[in-house]
Amino acid sequence: MAARHFLTLTDLSAGELATLIARAAELKAAHKRGERQVRYPGRVMAMLFEKSSTRTRASFEAAWTHLGGHSMFLSPRDIQLGRGETVEDSARVLSRMVDALVVRTFSHERLELFAAHSTVPVINALTDRFHPCQLLADILTWTECHGDVRGRTAAFVGDGNNVCHSWMEAARLFGFRLRVATPQNYRPAADLQTAYADCVEILDDPKAAVAGADAVITDVWASMGQEDETAARQAAFAGYEVDQALMARAAPGAIFMHCLPAHRGEEVSAEVIDGPQSVVWDEAENRLHAQKALLELLLG
Ligand code: CP
Ligand code: NVA
Repeated sequence: MAARHFLTLTDLSAGELATLIARAAELKAAHKRGERQVRYPGRVMAMLFEKSSTRTRASFEAAWTHLGGHSMFLSPRDIQLGRGETVEDSARVLSRMVDALVVRTFSHERLELFAAHSTVPVINALTDRFHPCQLLADILTWTECHGDVRGRTAAFVGDGNNVCHSWMEAARLFGFRLRVATPQNYRPAADLQTAYADCVEILDDPKAAVAGADAVITDVWASMGQEDETAARQAAFAGYEVDQALMARAAPGAIFMHCLPAHRGEEVSAEVIDGPQSVVWDEAENRLHAQKALLELLLG
């Protein structure tokens, strides 16, 4: 049987995603009670990261250890992929040795190539186009705060990047409305704007996007790989900071989310991220619980 990959949220059905979020909540409660579910003793997960990571790496390694498995972290600095061995050959070889491959890389096509040559599940730990694991934790967090997210409204303010793209996919799959406010030149990918036009509204004005929203989300203005554009982006995104005045336009009880790492004083003010509406630490913790549920779903 072909391996089940998780390259983007749409690799799972709406029903599977709803079940996954409910299971993640159960696993979180069990974890808080001090229970360990040793489901995968002796099984091995390879984690191949071509970009930096704190949360994704730590949460996958901790999750897999809690489930009884062993994880191996592979950096391109140390493996032959970094010296020019092909993605195809690396995937063929690694997937003969391990039970799952968690991959963080640059182009989404590179991840798809990996998956096409892997006989075990490949999980997207972030590409330039999507960050689906982040959304599993984000929806779990939003659900914990407001119950069912169906019919609610979220606002994403900032760069139309990988995290924004995964929020767009989530809007359809979880049944909420998303408003995205970005500068003209930093809009989400055109194909995704078209594909999600029924549930995602693209705006210029952060105030209009946030008006009455239940959740306000932002992310860095310069993603990994865009470091050279930092100055130009800081100029382009002036006026897109999520600050207290912007949050005041959201619904009463609205939450603030950020995948982290954050830059206080750029995409978000310290007052907001460290304030009472911010749920970013629960959001980070929820990576652990949501990814356990994902691993169970993919590995059975
Ligand atoms: N949110 C997130 O993916 O963080 P890391 O880059 O630290 O993994
Ligand atoms: N958009 C950011 C997310 C980091 C988790 C990046 O790609 O660098």
